Amino acid sequence: MTYTKEEVLLEVEHVDLNYGERSILRDVNFTIRNIVRPGMSQGQVVSLLGRSGIGKTQLFRLLAGLQQPSSGSITIFGNKEVEAGDMGVVFQHYYLFEWKTIYQSLMMACRQNPALKGNEKDAIAKWATAFEVTDILHKYPQQLSGGQRQRASIMQQLLKGSAFLLFDEPFSGLDICVLDKVVDMLLQVSVSDELKTLVIVSHDIETSVAISDTVFILGKEEGQPGATVKQEIDLVERGLAWQKDVRREKAFADTLDEIKASL
Ligand SMILES: Nc1ncnc2c1ncn2[C@@H]1O[C@H](COP(=O)(O)OP(=O)(O)OP(=O)(O)O)[C@@H](O)[C@H]1O
Ligand SMILES: [Mg+2]
Repeated sequence: MTYTKEEVLLEVEHVDLNYGERSILRDVNFTIRNIVRPGMSQGQVVSLLGRSGIGKTQLFRLLAGLQQPSSGSITIFGNKEVEAGDMGVVFQHYYLFEWKTIYQSLMMACRQNPALKGNEKDAIAKWATAFEVTDILHKYPQQLSGGQRQRASIMQQLLKGSAFLLFDEPFSGLDICVLDKVVDMLLQVSVSDELKTLVIVSHDIETSVAISDTVFILGKEEGQPGATVKQEIDLVERGLAWQKDVRREKAFADTLDEIKASL
């Protein structure tokens, strides 16, 4: 499979996060590059994996620009310091405006995206079909199931058009059929634009590995306070990216074992 890794899209350099004396994140470093495949629109899907309580949501907040690191920097597109609003953010609890219908929320998201000007209705209709939310568009969030809320929330962030989409635990609390659907949807989103970059923060190792091209492992190093990125796994190199039946590969099972051992 031919591909190249081109320009830097997101760079995390020497990021520390402390609360008082307590170190939560220590010297976190990683880089996401544009993966280019000839003749294809190919986005990036990256997972940050780690145990419960290790600091994933804290790192998610820093990446989203919702909070500043104690030191270090997070930049996008080569040199822009990340700020709130630069990234589409899908929180663990699928935040939606409770007083607006799904359609109204989606329309508001479209209006933030200059690329959709004049085509808002078509864009909503197209993604609503793909995400199977067409029949709930005129309902309020409290009338939806968890899975429907999640899809609506992802769609809302997607329509805003930012290149980066961050997800905190997008797979938790979903039954297996819905889970497969969400995985499919995220893959559709990832290939919708060359620069589209999905960053998934999760403790669901299996689903994350199945969907990603790169995995970063967040964990503690012996004798050190705070969590850091201990390992980067390039799933493209291992032949485990961009294929539907990846779960049947032996290398997939081996990679899961390797990750479990290092968490
Ligand atoms: N405002 C705060 N002040 C002090 N410590 C905090 C604060 N917010 C979070 N923490 C601590 O940061 C650590 C990491 O929390 P975080 O929510 O990032 O974990 P997580 O990896 O997302 O866990 P989970 O998988 O359960 O969601 C926890 O030990 C938590 O107690
Ligand atoms: Mg968390």
